[in-house]
Amino acid sequence: MSTTTLITRIGSLVTNDPGVGDGSPLGLIQDAAVVVEGDRVAWVGPADRAPDADLMHDAEGRALIPGFVDSHSHLVFAGDRTAEFNARMSGHPYQAGGIRTTVAATRAAGDEELEANLVRYVREALRQGTTTVETKSGYGLTVDDEARALRIAARHTDEVTFLGAHIVSPDFADDPAAYVDLVTGPMLDACAPYARWVDVFCEKGAFDGDQARAVLTAGMAKGLVPRVHANQLSYGPGVQLAVELGAASADHCTLLTDEDVAALAAGTTVATLLPGAEFSTRAQWPDARRLLDAGVTVALSTDCNPGSSFTSSMPFCIALAVRDMGMTPDEALWSATAGGARALRRDDVGRIVPGAYADLALLDAPSHVHLSYRPGVPLVSEVWRHGVRA
Ligand code: NIG
Ligand code: FE
Repeated sequence: MSTTTLITRIGSLVTNDPGVGDGSPLGLIQDAAVVVEGDRVAWVGPADRAPDADLMHDAEGRALIPGFVDSHSHLVFAGDRTAEFNARMSGHPYQAGGIRTTVAATRAAGDEELEANLVRYVREALRQGTTTVETKSGYGLTVDDEARALRIAARHTDEVTFLGAHIVSPDFADDPAAYVDLVTGPMLDACAPYARWVDVFCEKGAFDGDQARAVLTAGMAKGLVPRVHANQLSYGPGVQLAVELGAASADHCTLLTDEDVAALAAGTTVATLLPGAEFSTRAQWPDARRLLDAGVTVALSTDCNPGSSFTSSMPFCIALAVRDMGMTPDEALWSATAGGARALRRDDVGRIVPGAYADLALLDAPSHVHLSYRPGVPLVSEVWRHGVRA
């Protein structure tokens, strides 16, 4: 038997189990307690009915929420794009071509440097309450550089995504079709063993609908599950392709037609919104309200990367989503936890229910609403991942 710990005197508990507490999607319980046994949640309920445990932890009336599930980041990279950010904030537009700067720096870096960078950002995220992180390749764009990115990522997370089709490699500028052949052939063969997901940047200046379909279907044939960078910088076929192929997620979803929204509502693909990218590129906000009102499942993630969104902070993304994307604080919290879990097809994270991983964030606040009510304030005071205090 593993040690049991009773976390008691939780002022407000978000379970994301609509079958308990107030019956809302957040399954809120006031004056609650949680029992952790080993790496899992063993019991959830009102504090006055809590069972005995080996150890006791007093939450002192604070709010406890599921650890954040950041289902979209790009953390295997080297270098810095401060100059590009400065230029954007002086009025220059964001262009996907900036990715090339990071590709050059990443190729030049040693394995240790890349791993140290990744660990730094995973820890930075953990301190801010993120207990599950998906991360991608996409800054190598050669067979060896993509495979090593995924090998390094797989040492630190189970949620690894092959994004060899981030942009056409500069080495293939004159022959994009040959690059797609490389990605769907030898690069996929080398990368698939380390990855769970396959992704493509379906965008003008990156990959068109036919190329994206070729990349995703090749990955699917190797057992990878698709997710798509879709409709970020322009309207296009990405979202509808994602839904058609049964992708776990269509990410960005900034510029959507009514047909795109209808496709998402009718399908199983989660819409993952990445407000850090719109913040850092001064772009139009994704319309979360429109998606939610149409019945689409929405996730919120950071897109942490050195170009378009250099934040690892889920609380920051929640605050932006509430202020500028039409989400309520409850919806934003759900999307940053249970929504991210849906986008990763996981039911063992993103919820505080018996049997789920004990991935928990205690807030220095009486309720989760303070994450957007008190933007920019570091409210995450204690984090547990798999039952261990981080
Ligand atoms: O998700 N959209 C494409 N890829 C990243 C940007 C990467 C970069 O600018 O380095 C994104 O925003
Ligand atoms: Fe991205």
